[in-house]
Amino acid sequence: MSALLITDIGSLVGTHPKNISVLKGSSMNTLPAINNAWILCEDGLIADFGSMDNLPTNLPTSLTSISAKGGYVFPSWCDSHTHIVFAASREEEFVMKIQGKSYEEIAAAGGGILNSARKLQNETEDHLFESASMRLKDMIKQGTGAVEIKSGYGLTLDSELKMLRVIRRLKEAFKIPIKASFLAAHTYPEDYKNDHNSYIKLIIDKMLPKIADEGLADYIDVFCEKGFFSVDETEKLLEVGAKYGLPPKIHANQLSISGAVQVGVKHHAISVDHLEVTDEDVVRSISSSNTIATLLPSCSLYLGIPFANARGLINADIPVALASDFNPGSTPSGNMNFVVSLGCIKLKMLPEEAINAATLNGAAAMQLSETVGSIAVGKRANLFITRPMSSLAYLPYSFGQSQIEKVVLNGEIC
Ligand code: NIG
Ligand code: FE
Repeated sequence: MSALLITDIGSLVGTHPKNISVLKGSSMNTLPAINNAWILCEDGLIADFGSMDNLPTNLPTSLTSISAKGGYVFPSWCDSHTHIVFAASREEEFVMKIQGKSYEEIAAAGGGILNSARKLQNETEDHLFESASMRLKDMIKQGTGAVEIKSGYGLTLDSELKMLRVIRRLKEAFKIPIKASFLAAHTYPEDYKNDHNSYIKLIIDKMLPKIADEGLADYIDVFCEKGFFSVDETEKLLEVGAKYGLPPKIHANQLSISGAVQVGVKHHAISVDHLEVTDEDVVRSISSSNTIATLLPSCSLYLGIPFANARGLINADIPVALASDFNPGSTPSGNMNFVVSLGCIKLKMLPEEAINAATLNGAAAMQLSETVGSIAVGKRANLFITRPMSSLAYLPYSFGQSQIEKVVLNGEIC
């Protein structure tokens, strides 16, 4: 039995009652914490925690004990939206953006998702695994302890399978929970530009059965957007996805009011993600459902598109999650500390709201809140320890700087 005791914790943050699996609206501002605390991890799980005034005496015999020296302990970030399997970076598009080209213009000029898809076709599974592992290691160092990863740069049967098999290998190789989303409906490949039906048919008849057969995906995702997949096309894909037991997590309202949110909600999406463009109907639609609104402020920052209306969503009693969207085109960063800072600075979320959005609600957006996302007995001991901080708000306030001193995964210091 392996055991880790962390003592002298300035504040043990996120001690939500275990039966709370997601925080909606005004409850997002509640972030319970124990000051001057200890936590005991046994066999990879959180075994107990409390105040230093009541440090237990009957501790396991083989125990590693460390002092947090007044630093804070947080549950690891739960990053519920990423695209970290890709063949190459796209900084040439970065330069085009600086010169004033829009996301749509870059895509129309052969850049964008098709650019990544072209580069991925000839890349080996081993190389993709190595480069994605490197990204994931960086994210873990920055405090991420659970992650969702999408396919969607394959766009052919073989390459989508290749991506999903890489994600399966990441699931086996890394100590953190990983969920896979099948996103062949990311854009239309060149050959199907004028024959959408045939591509939809390829996804439905060839890709989905094989993926379901090999158990390669947990969710189905669609980029439902003008110029990408229409509401009707999305609906068709979500219907077939459901037959294979894949609930939707969809790219919705990134560039326009597209009907994506409504079709996602209709099909019981776990989350509708992006939401840079919303109106009252969109907010009403989500608030009448159990769907989580996942916001990706690093994407808004990088693309120069609007920031999502987090306040409007929270005021409508909607659960909001924050995620990185790490991908080579719209968000070349998986730093969740920065995402949380942007949540505060640009989305006007309070520090407590942003931290809840990036932990417990992020976990819920991957159906993982039983296992991660808060400090509760029996959950996985995936945590990070910070430097001593003057207050909770210091973490998002000190944007772009890491306060993380140590990362603990499954009760072991990494
Ligand atoms: O979430 N919008 C769709 N997909 C990604 C961007 C993909 C890319 O540009 O490579 C996103 O922003
Ligand atoms: Fe995305």
